[in-house]
Amino acid sequence: MATAAHDMEAVRARFPALSSGVAFLDGPGGTQCPQSVIDAIAGYLRESNANLGGAFAASRRSDALVALAHETAARFLGCRAEETAFGPNMTTLNFALTRALGRTLAAGDQILVTRLDHDGNVAPWLELAHDRDLTVDFVDFREDTSLDLDDLARKLSQRTRVVAFPLASNALGTMPDAARIVALAHEAGALAWADAVHFAPHGPIDVEALGVDVLLCSPYKFFGPHLGLAYGREELLRSWRPYKVRPAADEPVGHRFETGTLAHELLAGFVAAVDYIDELGWEAIRAHERALGRHFLERLPESCTLYGLPTMDGRTPTFAFRVAGVTPGDVAQRLAERDIAVWAGDYYAVEAMTRLGLQPGGAVRAGFVHYNTFDEVDRLLEGLAVA
Ligand SMILES: Cc1ncc(COP(=O)(O)O)c(C=O)c1O
Repeated sequence: MATAAHDMEAVRARFPALSSGVAFLDGPGGTQCPQSVIDAIAGYLRESNANLGGAFAASRRSDALVALAHETAARFLGCRAEETAFGPNMTTLNFALTRALGRTLAAGDQILVTRLDHDGNVAPWLELAHDRDLTVDFVDFREDTSLDLDDLARKLSQRTRVVAFPLASNALGTMPDAARIVALAHEAGALAWADAVHFAPHGPIDVEALGVDVLLCSPYKFFGPHLGLAYGREELLRSWRPYKVRPAADEPVGHRFETGTLAHELLAGFVAAVDYIDELGWEAIRAHERALGRHFLERLPESCTLYGLPTMDGRTPTFAFRVAGVTPGDVAQRLAERDIAVWAGDYYAVEAMTRLGLQPGGAVRAGFVHYNTFDEVDRLLEGLAVA
């Protein structure tokens, strides 16, 4: 079966790793890179490798690349270049940003996180709470794994300073109602702090339309290299005292939160990844992913129990499930023997897995992105039927 939405053969030909025959259904853990991303990284190292601010050509090219990467990040997120910051990964950026915010918080202030969050958007708050005597409360999800907005409304208080939430759960695929969460947070005078890591390969992000104050994502989940990227509303970033070395420039404001020398070669790869997505277009990506997801849901063997929404509405094509009588680790091992890459465990979504009673062991997770095929989904289904 093929979708008219995009030419699968042409798409797959751009990703060298896909010619190996392995069905990469591990996208929520990290995606493969198109050749243009690989070339951009190698090209930078070959032709422009230098530190910033020098009088010589390679350094000037590096200055230009860093500026271009921030402009590209702004285009990707719907903000201004000054409001973006790169780092090694989302987790490191989140620890840095939460610590900077923490300098403005007082003992007894409350942070709300959700049980759908990856620990990268939970542990930074728990550590901050430890250091500054804050309270962290968890917003629950319903039986169908949708976020319980009544629970959020109940838990908001006059002391709530931040509502941290995911645009999509990396374990279950569930996409909470971001607009409603932001509205509730702002009505209570709290910041809306979004983790877009899992959502980013599946749809466009517009921080202005979302109204979020901070948003984080990771380019290695959307066909780029291992990097983290953060957005912070300018006024907010300016109001914090950053942890930075004294000689590092204070402007543009996002740069205050970029410690040391960035991985310039990876910024080159990031620019190529965003160019690749722009070329393909979100509409084609989304149509194909939805069709793959439906194909999977309609054919999931009875021996499998799905944890998450049973239709493609309100979710990404990321599926957590268990196979009767086989541990998730064994299922992943048996699928690996058939050249099918999936994950097993909790994928750091420890609250969700505990809440669903899936610990220890977690669940099997298969995630589809736009370069996956119906044939690969069928191979997964066949593998599960005999697992
Ligand atoms: C939803 C979500 N948030 C945060 C992270 C952490 O991202 P990073 O590896 O860039 O620190 C991940 C990684 O899997 C994730 O899926």
